[in-house]
Amino acid sequence: MQPEILMPNQQIVNPASAQAIIEVRNITKEVKLNREQKLTILHGVNFRVNKGEMVAIVGASGSGKTTMLGIIGGLDVPTSGEVFINAQDISRLKEKQLAQVRNRTIGFVFQFFNLVPTLTALENVMLPIQFDKKQQFKPEERAKELLDLVGLSHRLNNRPTQLSGGEQQRVAIARALANQPAVLLGDEPTGNLDSQRSEEILQLLADLRQRLGLTVCLVTHDPKIAALCDRRVTMSDGVLYQG
Ligand SMILES: Nc1ncnc2c1ncn2[C@@H]1O[C@H](COP(=O)(O)OP(=O)(O)OP(=O)(O)O)[C@@H](O)[C@H]1O
Ligand SMILES: [Mg+2]
Repeated sequence: MQPEILMPNQQIVNPASAQAIIEVRNITKEVKLNREQKLTILHGVNFRVNKGEMVAIVGASGSGKTTMLGIIGGLDVPTSGEVFINAQDISRLKEKQLAQVRNRTIGFVFQFFNLVPTLTALENVMLPIQFDKKQQFKPEERAKELLDLVGLSHRLNNRPTQLSGGEQQRVAIARALANQPAVLLGDEPTGNLDSQRSEEILQLLADLRQRLGLTVCLVTHDPKIAALCDRRVTMSDGVLYQG
């Protein structure tokens, strides 16, 4: 039983819930396959991540990992249930507000990097900063700082095809961090890299988590990566299990 903290305004706060940065409550996801058939991908998923945690999400192919991550990251909406990011329920937001949450609060890193091929590393990282309405950072200055942080200050003007897989993923990580998100989500971010590059990228993520106080959730098939996270959850047929 967690002790209760009495706040000055007399509200009773459970310290565990006060720390939660991601709170997924009973989400389901159904998709229509055709006029008669629908498929339930998520069957009432509950998932909580505290600030500063690094969590691995594992599970068989087709079990619903990407679907869940997409819903947490505001790329998709649940059929029912709630998703709180930083205590804000994002499950019912309109597309415009959701786009803002995506751009400012969540950083996303994918298996195939998803960089814009016609833009340089610097321009790729500048993009979400320029896109942000508030423009809290100077795009070029901030992008250079971030590329330095991921060890790529010597590759600012290279396009993705001129970079190795590991380097492209570093650019993608710098881009994901552009607007200082609270949460970094990775969908098999090392899935397309050899084991040495995978380890380097994982090390980088762990280091950034420490230095920036980030919260990190990684979908991975790699048991080595899962072992290096604080804890692991397993998706199986659209249900999430602890451990
Ligand atoms: N829009 C969609 N329409 C129909 N089926 C879908 C849709 N999106 C996902 N699915 C199905 O839902 C299931 C879960 O998909 P999801 O991509 O979340 O799995 P995953 O755990 O990420 O798998 P993998 O490890 O292969 O990436 C799969 O069976 C997939 O075919
Ligand atoms: Mg997937």
